[in-house]
Amino acid sequence: MILVTGAAGKTGRAVIRALARRGVYTRALIHREAQIAVVQKAGATEIIMGDMTDPDVLARAVEGIDAVYHICPNMHPEEEKIGANLLEVAHVAKVQHFVYHSVLHPQTEDMPHHWHKLRVEERIFKSGLPFTILQPAAYMQNLLAYWPEIVGEGVYRVPYSGEARMSLVDLDDVAEVAAIVLTEPGHVGAIYELAGPEPLTQYDIANILGEVIGQRVRFEMLPLEQWEHTALQRGLSEYAIETLKHMFRYYDAYGFWGNANVLKWLLGREPTRLADFVRKVRDEG
Ligand SMILES: NC(=O)c1ccc[n+]([C@@H]2O[C@H](COP(=O)([O-])OP(=O)(O)OC[C@H]3O[C@@H](n4cnc5c(N)ncnc54)[C@H](OP(=O)(O)O)[C@@H]3O)[C@@H](O)[C@H]2O)c1
Repeated sequence: MILVTGAAGKTGRAVIRALARRGVYTRALIHREAQIAVVQKAGATEIIMGDMTDPDVLARAVEGIDAVYHICPNMHPEEEKIGANLLEVAHVAKVQHFVYHSVLHPQTEDMPHHWHKLRVEERIFKSGLPFTILQPAAYMQNLLAYWPEIVGEGVYRVPYSGEARMSLVDLDDVAEVAAIVLTEPGHVGAIYELAGPEPLTQYDIANILGEVIGQRVRFEMLPLEQWEHTALQRGLSEYAIETLKHMFRYYDAYGFWGNANVLKWLLGREPTRLADFVRKVRDEG
């Protein structure tokens, strides 16, 4: 039985689906009752509901578990504390394998959520638990948030430069790797960078979107103040807004790109290219 934390988010659901395809039983740690159906649909075998910041919830979650796949909620101010608490209860429960869903370039101090993940990684080394760390790049699935504007207005609009390069990765490829490292031998002690196969500029991304959808899509840079105004209206927390502003400024200055060799080796095939991902989204309607 594998515990998947943050189970009802897009990452958690993808990982549960990938494990279910391999016939693996999963226990999904969810936050709210409304998420029960969501993780059941993904293929979760057992469900546990509670607040991840509560160590008692984590202790119950790891009871009788062989391996943990830890996904901290995005931009969580207590990521390091949650990680420390989970490692402690996993140690007590004699969990055989602790797999952490980190991020590409956690060494980046300019992005607080990356830096917190680096500190969790350090705690993992010190925990004595057999571990594997996955470091995915930004997901192709993030583009879905802009889909109505892309299709409706023919505009791909993000708050960073059109020149910023990103090695977007398909979350389904990442989830497949998660299932591989959890079910096949030989991955204990490894840290794997999971970048997508093409370090594309935002202009390239707009062009690929346009080519596949069959209409002109132009890139437009959204002023950060305008993005913040909309984020406040949408009720995003102050912490999430500040963290995202750091992230967008970083993307604007340096991009966020890497190398797909490790991903290709783990998958045993070419990783999904952006055009293939967009085609999949287009065909699914
Ligand atoms: N998006 C990317 O491109 C990308 C790339 C690399 C790495 N990552 C990392 O992937 C991780 C997961 O991201 P995601 O977008 O899939 O997850 P997410 O949707 O932000 O969160 C996952 C789940 O955690 C739940 N949750 C929130 N607070 C909780 C709490 N206190 N106790 C228990 N559950 C709680 C959320 O439920 P509620 O709806 O109730 O809040 C949600 O269902 C993050 O750590 C992120 O940094 C993301």
